[in-house]
Amino acid sequence: MSRKIYVFDTTLRDGEQVPGAKLNLAEKLDVAEQIAKMKVDMMEVGFPSSSQGDFEAVRAISRKVGKDVWIAALGRAIQSDIDCIYESIREAELPLIHIVLGSSDVHVSKKFRKTPQQVIEMGVGAVKYASSLLPQVQYSLEDASRSEFEYLWQTIEAVVKAGATIINVPDTVGFAIPEEFGKLIYRINDRLRNLDPSVLLSVHCHNDTGLATANTLAAVKNGADKVECTINGIGERAGNTALEEVVMGISLHEAYYGGHTTVDTRQIYETSRIVSATMGLDVQVNKAITGENAFAHSSGIHQDGLLKSKDVYEIMDPETIGAPAMEIVLTARSGRHAFMHVTQRLGFAIPEESLEDIYQQFLTMADAQKEIYDNDVLTLLKKSALTSGGNNRELWQLLDYELTVTDSRPAATVTLARGDKEVVISQTGSGVIDALYGAIIEAIAAPIELIDYRINSLSRGKGSLGKVTTQIRYADQLYSGKAIEQDVMRASALALINAVNKMLLEQASGC
Ligand code: KIV
Ligand code: ZN
Repeated sequence: MSRKIYVFDTTLRDGEQVPGAKLNLAEKLDVAEQIAKMKVDMMEVGFPSSSQGDFEAVRAISRKVGKDVWIAALGRAIQSDIDCIYESIREAELPLIHIVLGSSDVHVSKKFRKTPQQVIEMGVGAVKYASSLLPQVQYSLEDASRSEFEYLWQTIEAVVKAGATIINVPDTVGFAIPEEFGKLIYRINDRLRNLDPSVLLSVHCHNDTGLATANTLAAVKNGADKVECTINGIGERAGNTALEEVVMGISLHEAYYGGHTTVDTRQIYETSRIVSATMGLDVQVNKAITGENAFAHSSGIHQDGLLKSKDVYEIMDPETIGAPAMEIVLTARSGRHAFMHVTQRLGFAIPEESLEDIYQQFLTMADAQKEIYDNDVLTLLKKSALTSGGNNRELWQLLDYELTVTDSRPAATVTLARGDKEVVISQTGSGVIDALYGAIIEAIAAPIELIDYRINSLSRGKGSLGKVTTQIRYADQLYSGKAIEQDVMRASALALINAVNKMLLEQASGC
């Protein structure tokens, strides 16, 4: 059995330092509950001496969420900060005091204006005081990657003797490079094992040159027991190590790293979406693991390969992170194989002799619209007399919609059809989308929950195309739907209907 790598999530402390991402107490509790669901080992939830609001949020999380997960809070190496941490986390079942103090020349001489020995004494005093309050104390040597090695070690030795149970080595400014950072961790680990093998060696990397994940994994390879990270890699400046990247990196290469985590990876996707929506921080579309396109395939060669066998181009199943199934995005680069796959999935049989004609119509549409979704294919096939077999899947279609936008209470009326059935529903809402989606959800009469709604512009200027992405949950399963239109309200309606139809198709196929 490989060794366990502890995962420390700092989304609610370092992640929350992103400008504009500050959460209120209720939001922090929601995010903390979701992070705990992911079964990380430890979560850092604030800097309680920074404000009364932060103190109260840390205390509320300690009370409500702090059961099977270590709850950490950060402070400086001063008694008043440590008292504040203690008061805020003491009701957690597994509380952890986290103290930070600089160890590089610039920190010692310019930030603290002290001698190196005075800084060590300050750290030792803080650790002694913290361990008189609680048994678990983490000591972070801020800017460790730019610190002189023997001074770094002298500090580690002193704070471990004073009672620190976790030593954290941060690459505070994202300066490290993987080979060197790995060597640094190897050297520290070598000495730490002799000093006190029960002390955990941890790393905390920033992403200023895009190397946070690489540095963290190099550290794991070289003996780090614990990794600090945030969901979607959010955090100070260019962010922290992304939890999803490190956890999946270790899981894909367990033999190479000689370690494993106990994170419930199936919670990653939903946690990513909740953090993004609550903090108002979009996930870059090509973000590794959690980006919108992480499991989307658009080139003809790739689509053809995937349709033959998923493992041709997929190294992990989206289900392992709880993401919606792999997506074939039809574009002008999609080949006949992918186009036929989508039409068959939607329930249409295209006679051999008509295929070329319909495929050319599809290409014309794709050239104009960039991406083609289920509603577009349905429209194309319905217009064409060249299909046979008809649509036997009974999918929902949007026939009409009308919006009344007033300052008081926006309203929407939608007309949807499914097979021979036609439904007209009117709803009001707190906003236009609320009214529109309320009416569609009532019309389809299925217990779906809207998880995500996003809108992006695909081009510039007045006539630009709007792309809407929605995500719904039905029976614990996530389905996403997208649509592109000039009219973003129509795109919104179609994106939701596409998600619902995906759900119906999957239910019908029994997968
Ligand atoms: O980047 C950093 O050094 C930190 C410490 C508090 C671990 O966030
Ligand atoms: Zn940091």
